[in-house]
Amino acid sequence: MEPFDAPTLIATKRDGHRLPDAGIDWLIAAYTAGTVAEEQMAALLMAIYLRGMDEQENARWTTAVMASGGRLDFSEVPRPTIGKHSTGGVGDKITLPLVAVVAACGAAVPSASGRGLGHTGGTLDKMESIRGFTPVLSGTQIRDQLTEVGAAIFAAGQLAPADVRLYALRDVTGTVESLPLVAGSVMSKKLAEGTDGLVLDVKVGSGAFMKNLADARELARRMVALGAAHGVPTRALLTDMSTPLGCTVGNAIEVTEALEVLAGGGPADVVALTVRLAQEMLTLAGLDDRDPAATLRDGTAMDRFTAMVAAQGGDLSVPLPVGTCTETVTAEGGGVMGDIDAMAVARTAWRLGAGRSRPGERVQHGAGVRIHRRPGEPVAPGAPLFTLYTDTADRIGPALAELDGGYRVLGPGDTPAPSRPLIIEATP
Ligand code: URA
Repeated sequence: MEPFDAPTLIATKRDGHRLPDAGIDWLIAAYTAGTVAEEQMAALLMAIYLRGMDEQENARWTTAVMASGGRLDFSEVPRPTIGKHSTGGVGDKITLPLVAVVAACGAAVPSASGRGLGHTGGTLDKMESIRGFTPVLSGTQIRDQLTEVGAAIFAAGQLAPADVRLYALRDVTGTVESLPLVAGSVMSKKLAEGTDGLVLDVKVGSGAFMKNLADARELARRMVALGAAHGVPTRALLTDMSTPLGCTVGNAIEVTEALEVLAGGGPADVVALTVRLAQEMLTLAGLDDRDPAATLRDGTAMDRFTAMVAAQGGDLSVPLPVGTCTETVTAEGGGVMGDIDAMAVARTAWRLGAGRSRPGERVQHGAGVRIHRRPGEPVAPGAPLFTLYTDTADRIGPALAELDGGYRVLGPGDTPAPSRPLIIEATP
């Protein structure tokens, strides 16, 4: 006879009680083995979403999810290994230049990444817009690539396989924005990566899963404590996600912008966040004498990126896909661009086909949004503000409806939008 059963555990959480430690271990093992059904796990996720988990419960959940798979071993990689993860944002292509910058500075970055979750984009969906690129790598391939190139972006696969399924289930059951579930999802994968250190980018604002600073601080605190409990030195930055990062939101369009950053250009906020996260990672790696910004100017980060893409079968000489149907939104009057709501732009990109509405759905790699004027930039009457891209013409109307009300051009009498720091704070 089984020591626990799913209906009782679901009811325990539904009624606001703590799940027993052994019950959590049993549940995650049984879900991984297929004896707890998807609908039972969906009900439990909703109960957790509504009732939360205390810190010890969250730690046990995370350890159980991590234990559903193996742990990578990088002891033979002749460089310090450092992980990075973002809690999910809009236009958040930072992983692409960042892994290359840190590799160019002498550390190695194994980046187990995900697909789009909720309204946020996924690093794997972005990378797969490069012709031929595969995110499916074995442990040996990851190790070899870290030794030779210093960076790999791959699907979690056998790392925390319970999270791969929980992640996909949360995406379609309205249970993404849960502090304990985000903490468990991020840390189960990242601890299984087995790196020497970990840097977390905890997003705060309308386009993040944590909408306010208090929740983001608690998420960061829990994740840093989980890292410490597993012997992985972990630091977190809290960064603004009220407005999209950079000027592009989608898949291929974000890769294009990442390539601009790697070529020494690109939007200032993407460059600043890449460099700051790289500094945090290099400090943990004991390489804080290196200059990450220099690798963007001198082309060494670009060399690492192209080597990583080539090692994973990608061909950057093939033009990246661009949606065949476009629509440009222009300014009626002149002024200054006010706030651009990250959630509105994320939903616009999603309607254009950049994300999924059903599990396993194919994304349109060429779908997305280009932002022509960032908050605070001058706008002339009739100037282009946004260009929308999709392969499906009838997606344009619903996408425009999502964007409507998500931005404002401020005239002379309007109060300017408050300026917000991109990097809000760092955990001690
Ligand atoms: N990234 C993850 O891996 N999981 C989440 O829940 C959110 C962001």
